Amino acid sequence: MATERWDGLLLGATLATLADDTGYGLIEDGALGWRDGVIAYAGPRAGLPQDIEARTDLVIETDGLVTPGLIDCHTHVVFAGNRAAEFEQRLQGASYEEIARAGGGIVSTVRAVRAADEDTLLAQSLPRARALVADGATTLEIKSGYGLDFDNERKMLRVARRIGELLGITVRTTFLGAHALPPEFAGRSDDYIQAVCGWLPRLHDEGLVDAVDAFAERIAFSAAQTRRVFEVAHALGLPVKLHADQLSDGAGAALVAEFGGLSADHVEYTSEAGVAAMARAGTVAVLLPGAFHVLRETTLPPLAAFRRAGVPMAIATDCNPGTSPLLSLRQAMQLACTHFRLTPEDALRGATVHAAQALGLTDRGRLSVGQRADFACWKLAHPAELAYWLGGPLLTMSFAGGQRLA
Ligand code: NIG
Ligand code: FE
Repeated sequence: MATERWDGLLLGATLATLADDTGYGLIEDGALGWRDGVIAYAGPRAGLPQDIEARTDLVIETDGLVTPGLIDCHTHVVFAGNRAAEFEQRLQGASYEEIARAGGGIVSTVRAVRAADEDTLLAQSLPRARALVADGATTLEIKSGYGLDFDNERKMLRVARRIGELLGITVRTTFLGAHALPPEFAGRSDDYIQAVCGWLPRLHDEGLVDAVDAFAERIAFSAAQTRRVFEVAHALGLPVKLHADQLSDGAGAALVAEFGGLSADHVEYTSEAGVAAMARAGTVAVLLPGAFHVLRETTLPPLAAFRRAGVPMAIATDCNPGTSPLLSLRQAMQLACTHFRLTPEDALRGATVHAAQALGLTDRGRLSVGQRADFACWKLAHPAELAYWLGGPLLTMSFAGGQRLA
């Protein structure tokens, strides 16, 4: 310790470390030190090793609150165009399912993505990723699923990787080829699934895939079709997750749990049996209150059952042009509290510790020694305020791997 040199040291703020499994882990007049992108100290200023300030390259005196960097574990930020017109149609009475069956919905975004070249897609998507980072995110999951052919799925995943490089954040990519049936496969959904299963190993060979997802739903793919995609993922050693039971109970949660999946996402219609299967498999429930809100859904996820069974609940934006044009994870935390009655503490844990678990990442989510130096500094006195304010510029700065982002 005596010869140690740190890259950075933040002094004076209140730390919400989330270091234990309950409570915010608050430390007043805290100190956070890091070296080589990893936290070297997170505790009271009074407990700092002697003379460490003099041996630190960057010392920042600050007040306010410091939390782990927020982790958005379910996004579709890479897309072209938008679907504001469908929002208007839904407000006039059309349902999401009706619009999808009439050739709108996901497939209309597919047309826009196919028409955009890679640089155009990046130029349209980057500001959305920047907005998420500007409100505290330091890790984003980004899905494909609006290309629905090999070249366009590849283009989306390449754009996702480029966003990570350009913003200096971690981007975890998820292949969502089984998101919707493209028009050229109309009436041939099994053939489409066979094509998806063929693209996956090739995209994986290019290093473009960190996980595999599908949309198991009556307007998308059956359990049997989802299983075929998961079997290919499994053979490649890739983790799976699922858009499960969003509009109806299709036993999606139990299916993804059967494959030891990282997460079942949406889960509004998940049954008790699905919850039990998730608990046994250690599958995280990813709550997406933005989609719940925008679709004016009224069926709540089985929140009490998740709590009873000890299923961890994560929160994400689901940022997408159809069901959740939501550009702030903090806002998703707010919606999770108001719609799902999560406590602000649950919401923060859901956007950090449990979100990391939903991505299979163990190196982040808490402020503790050995974790990545990913953290966010806020103009706030107490962490409950994160899920309390609706909007507003509250972030003062953030760091990912010890490098300043904002
Ligand atoms: O997570 N449910 C499927 N996928 C997205 C919606 C995508 C879209 O409508 O463009 C979701 O809600
Ligand atoms: Fe989604």
